This record gives sequence, C-alpha cells and structure tokens, in this order.
Amino acid sequence: MAKDSLSVTDNRTGKQYEMPIENGCVKAIDFRKIKTSDQDFGLMSYDPAFLNTANCKSAITFIDGDAGILEYRGYPIDQLAEKSTHLEVSYLVMNGELPNKAQLEEFTTKITHHTYVHENIKSFMDGFRYDAHPMSMLASTVAGLSSFYPEAKNVKNREVRRAQMMRLIAKMPTLAAFSYRHSQGLPYVYPNNDLGYTENFLTMVKSIGKPNWRPHPALVKALDLLFILHADHEQNCSTTATRVVGSSEVDPYSAVAAGITALYGPLHGGANEAVLRMLREIGDVKNVPEFITRVKGGDGTKLMGFGHRVYKNYDPRAKVIKKACEEVFEVTGKNPALEIAVELERIALQDEYFVKRKLYPNVDFYSGLIYEAMGFSADFFTNLFAIPRTVGWVSQWEEMITDDEQKIARPRQVFTGKRKRDYLPIDKR
Ligand code: CMC
Repeated sequence: MAKDSLSVTDNRTGKQYEMPIENGCVKAIDFRKIKTSDQDFGLMSYDPAFLNTANCKSAITFIDGDAGILEYRGYPIDQLAEKSTHLEVSYLVMNGELPNKAQLEEFTTKITHHTYVHENIKSFMDGFRYDAHPMSMLASTVAGLSSFYPEAKNVKNREVRRAQMMRLIAKMPTLAAFSYRHSQGLPYVYPNNDLGYTENFLTMVKSIGKPNWRPHPALVKALDLLFILHADHEQNCSTTATRVVGSSEVDPYSAVAAGITALYGPLHGGANEAVLRMLREIGDVKNVPEFITRVKGGDGTKLMGFGHRVYKNYDPRAKVIKKACEEVFEVTGKNPALEIAVELERIALQDEYFVKRKLYPNVDFYSGLIYEAMGFSADFFTNLFAIPRTVGWVSQWEEMITDDEQKIARPRQVFTGKRKRDYLPIDKR
C-alpha cells in the first residue's frame, strides 16, 4: 500500500530509515539520525543557493514555474493587474483577503498618513555624493529609519509590527523620490496627501516649479500596474535576505534594508537596469544575431532579462508588461529600444540554446523600456522595483516572525579548509 514516507538504506552501515513525507518534502533534520557511529554528527543535505530547499511554509504567493502561473493569496496576477490597484493588492498581500470598501478606505488613509519622513532624513540624503546610486541611498536611509522608531524592536507585538509595516509601505516612495531628486540635483518635493499612492510618488519625482503639476493619468495607471506585478514573488533572493536577517529578531527597517541591498544586484532587481544597458550596447536590430551568438559563445555574456530560477516558461508578469508597453508608448512615444527587445525575444525563443535551457523573458525584460519611456534614468529602475516589493518583504517578514516553526536562520557548512595547526611567529613563516 502507498505510504507518505521515504525509505532510505545507508549503504555505509546497511541500516534502514523511514522518513515521513509532508507537503512533498522530507525534513532535512530527519537525515541527522542517519549516522555511521554514535560520534558521527549525522547526515546533512548540501544545497548551495537553496536549489531544492524549502525554507518556510508560506500562504502568500503561489508560483508554478513550469506552467507560468503566479497568484497572490490565490488571485491570478493577470486579474489583479487588470482590475485592482497597488494599495488594494498591498492590503490583500498583507491580510490574506481583498478589502471591502471601508477597509480599503481605512488602509489608504493610514498609508497616506505615514508618507512623510523625519526632516533629518534629508540631511542623510544631502550627505551622499552628487552621483550616488539611488539604490544605495534607499538601502541606507531605510536602515536609518530604525533609529527613528526604537519601538520597532518589539517585533513580537502585533500592533507595533503593523505600524512599522504601514510606515515602510508609506515611506518607501518618499525615500525613493528623495534619492532620485538628490541624484538629479533637484530640490526634494514633499508628499501631497490629496493624491493617490502612485500619483503622489510620480509627482514627488517629476514636478518642478509648478505646484499643481500632475503626471499623465495613463502613466500613473501603468506604473500602478507595474507596482502590482512586483508586489511579491515568494522566496526570491531579497525576500529570503529579509527573512534571514529578520529571523535574528532585529527591527523590520533593518531587515528590509537587507532585502533592498539584495535586490540591488544585477541578477535580481538590478536586471532591469542591466537590460537597458544591454539594449543600448546592441544599438540596432541588425546587431541582434551577433549579440545572440556572443551569448551562446560562453564568454559569460548573458541575455539580461531572460531566464529565471523558478519560471521555466514565459514569466506571466512579462506578458502583462509587454501589453502595457503599448499603452505607455501611446503617451510617451515609442521607445526605440523596443524594436531591439522584440527582435531579441523573437530570435531567442526559437534558438535551440534558449529553448533547451527553458530561458524565457522575465519581468525585467520589458519593464525598463517603460521606465525609460516615462523619463526615468536607468539607475533608478531598481528603486521602482523596491517600492512595490516592500509589501512583499514586510508580509513575508511578519509571516516568519509569527511562525512557531521558525528560528534564527543558521545554515550548516561543509568544511573544506585546513585543520588544527600550530601558530608560527612571523619571522618563521
Ligand atoms: N542568458 C544566457 N544564458 C543563460 C541565462 C541568460 N540570461 N540565464 C541562464 N542561462 C544559462 C546558464 O548559463 C546555464 O547554462 P549551462 O547549463 O550551459 O551552464 C543555464 O542557462 C541555467 O542557468 P543557471 O544560471 O543555472 O540558472 P539560475 O536559476 O541559477 O539563474 C538567473 C537564474 C535569473 C540568475 C539567470 O537566468 C540570469 O542570470 N538571468 C539574467 C539576469 C536576470 O534577468 N535576472 C532577473 C531575474 S527575474 C527578476 C527577479 O527575480 O529579480
């Protein structure tokens, strides 16, 4: 009869073990009882980069990478992208259910109430060099927020926790906008609490000299849609960083700052910036075949915006963004790099190298084109990813903090270095 368990024979000792299988997993700690002697530490699993290790149970985001499915709390991403708003999705991600009208109003009011940052934050910003990368500024100022809210250390108190989560979601656009203004040498624009989340952000970034200036509604809608697509993505690198750092029970500002620094990297959120630089380097549609040959040649050149650890199919977010490109370009005019991107995708999707490795466009392949058309410089793209991902980070952080099965994260290692040696005085070495 079928049993939900795994039988293992240790060929070193001939001993047999049975391990329960739950949710398609065996517990790595169950391997520990497999020993060659009483002194033996026990068997471990070796899994660099967590290729096959579940680090938590989570009820927030579901991905089926082979089928190209992404759902937040059970709602398919394409439905949310078409019908919802980023703040409504944020409520959903944080609380598990879509809000009713009163709940959404209350949530929106609370977020709006927290958009301002302490005036001293501006002094931090001013301390950065004129050409400081906005992601570096964002990570540092978010970490700095922890010094303004010392009560945030009380991570076991739900009320305190929720207040910081709301603050982080509310302040992230303000900090991102300030970092942009600094890098452009422009004065900071304070939040306007009469405006919606995304409109307020665009106004803080773009307005100059005209207090009543407002961004084009089509661009507000497109950016809000991009925010929805980026709200959460289960256990990616930055979310794992947030969870791991947060598992020490440090305050959420410090944990989220770790998430931001992880997102900064070109293999993660920094890929949208890298895509734009790649498209610029290619320069013309006629150079696409030569570039593809270079990628396949193994000199380390990657087709940025392609491939994903989890998706082995078209990233469902990339599909929505490709469509949104058209709506944005109607307002902004076509981004000339679009033609190069479309040609890269066309060739890659029929080339054996990419087909065999199941490399498809990911969320970053087209998002940079929209951001650039909206007038953002490439070094700001990752900030545009960090703003919406904040709700994912804080929700995953809270899920971890309230999970009785979690402890401080502390992986094991396979030691490959030298063992006990006697110290030699410097003149004897
Ligand atoms: N261009 C060319 N070859 C690639 C690419 C690419 N973009 N991505 C993977 N490969 C090759 C890789 O060289 C390897 O080939 P081989 O089997 O011959 O050694 C094979 O495909 C498997 O790749 P991998 O590096 O083992 O896959 P991974 O799961 O470790 O990496 C990835 C995933 C996203 C880091 C990688 O695909 C990549 O570097 N992509 C480009 C950067 C990018 O677009 N990142 C954004 C990810 S989506 C947004 C986010 O989550 O932040």
